[in-house]
Amino acid sequence: MLEKAKQKNVYKKVMCMRLGPEVLDIPDDTYDAVMMTGAVGDAHMNGSCFAEFIRIVKPGGYVVMDTIVKYINGSEYGGKSWDELIDDFLMAGRWVTLTRRKVENAFNSLDGMQYAFQVK
Ligand SMILES: C[S@@+](CC[C@H](N)C(=O)[O-])C[C@H]1O[C@@H](n2cnc3c(N)ncnc32)[C@H](O)[C@@H]1O
Repeated sequence: MLEKAKQKNVYKKVMCMRLGPEVLDIPDDTYDAVMMTGAVGDAHMNGSCFAEFIRIVKPGGYVVMDTIVKYINGSEYGGKSWDELIDDFLMAGRWVTLTRRKVENAFNSLDGMQYAFQVK
């Protein structure tokens, strides 16, 4: 997939890294935005990704992501649910919500959730 991405000639850099509880080899405040789609689910990403998304996005930048509703329950991290983790960062003033909506029939007849946050 990285080879395919390179062929598009739109990315300055491609990296193969596992996003999760580990700190990525990316400096703080690097990107204007992070976009993640289709990467949450069984044995995929969980709520541990939020802290890293916020860390690598510049203040005022954006985190845009989605998930399938049925995967939310399996995406808890550190004893907290996906929604609790999102709300923790809201309460801590780390990001504000731009979009948080349910989308019927988002993928393969499954309902999804779409999110957009602005990093503070
Ligand atoms: C179902 S594919 C979706 C690929 C693409 N985003 C799309 O929408 O077509 C799930 C992707 O999530 C990636 N993924 C799962 N867990 C990950 C993790 N912890 N860190 C980074 N990528 C992960 C997988 O490598 C895979 O590319």
